[in-house]
Amino acid sequence: MPLSAEQCHVDDDIRRAESLPARAFVEPEFLERELDTVFKTSWQLVPERGDDPRPLDEQTASRGTRVPVSLLGRPLFLQRGWDDDVLRAFPNTCTHAWFPLVLGASRGPTLVCGQHGRRFDCAGKFVSQPGFQGLEGFPRECDHLTSLPVAAWRRMMFVNLDPAARSFADSWSEIDASLARMPAPEDRLPSAEVREIAGNWKQHAWNYLDRFHIGYVHRPPGGLADAIELGSYKTELYEDSVLQWVYAAKPEDGFDPAVLPERFHDPKKGRRVFALWWFVWPNLTLNFYPWGLSVNVYQPVPGRPDATRFLWYQWAIDREKHAERDKRWLSSQVDAEDVDALAQVSRGLRSGFAPRGRFAPDDEQGPHWFHKKVARTVFG
Ligand code: FES
Ligand SMILES: [Fe+2]
Repeated sequence: MPLSAEQCHVDDDIRRAESLPARAFVEPEFLERELDTVFKTSWQLVPERGDDPRPLDEQTASRGTRVPVSLLGRPLFLQRGWDDDVLRAFPNTCTHAWFPLVLGASRGPTLVCGQHGRRFDCAGKFVSQPGFQGLEGFPRECDHLTSLPVAAWRRMMFVNLDPAARSFADSWSEIDASLARMPAPEDRLPSAEVREIAGNWKQHAWNYLDRFHIGYVHRPPGGLADAIELGSYKTELYEDSVLQWVYAAKPEDGFDPAVLPERFHDPKKGRRVFALWWFVWPNLTLNFYPWGLSVNVYQPVPGRPDATRFLWYQWAIDREKHAERDKRWLSSQVDAEDVDALAQVSRGLRSGFAPRGRFAPDDEQGPHWFHKKVARTVFG
């Protein structure tokens, strides 16, 4: 029997709530439901294509360009308008007999399907097709391509598979407010990386939102807990995102206050913010450091609930500091410690002795927010 809403209920009150059951992390049926709900209704970073090293915004910059992309196994394409310069996203599936429309990057005012010649304009509208004259009730609404919500943000592209999705601007309003004074990272480093790691995608999101483990998994001496002032750690919960931030143990490792809004300033003690760690529902993290931005995506692997595809991009603001990120911001060390800890948790999940957990009310608001949102989204 697949898991029921009742078996996955996560109480609003953290003092009463239980975590999602272990089965939600290991059963393929649950992952399928997530792909159909969580991942069909949320903003997803469009992964870069392997065959062109340029960021997608550059690949789609000129009039009429179109680029095939793939999002969680679904073929899509991005299209820059011919007449209006608007960026659009469409399913890469012809409405006639489902042939892929865009096989490689191309450009022009009209898109012609390679299988039987159906033509679409850059807004996805059916234009014509040989042999289709004089049909009754044609073209229907569904003969045009479905335009999917798309957004370009700080040189990255995001798509939502739900045409009625909450707008990108609304979903990202708190993030944008926190970055209002920060220079946009222009300089993408060639270290874009994709690797497969152990554990369900939710374990990685949960762990990211879990400040409780920092004092243990990233403990002193030499751990992240040494580089930050753990007592100043803040978790801010929003509708579609969570911000975690903390002051640096050494002011020289923190942000110049001029690039952050006033609420992050500390005029009395002169402490400086070590990082802004933004989690964006359901599986994206934007990690802003004085050296720049590290972007991580925890992609589920369809059919394999115990694996996660980890996408990783870096954008530099300050190249010199970026070169010191392992020494001062402990990037690789924290990453390795987390990957190891989660591989251990994966074994526990499958042990047959994994009861539903509880949450420490002062330390686990982030994980509670996440478990609750998964349960709500999967079961509606
Ligand atoms: S599948 Fe595209 S025209 Fe037939
Ligand atoms: Fe960690």
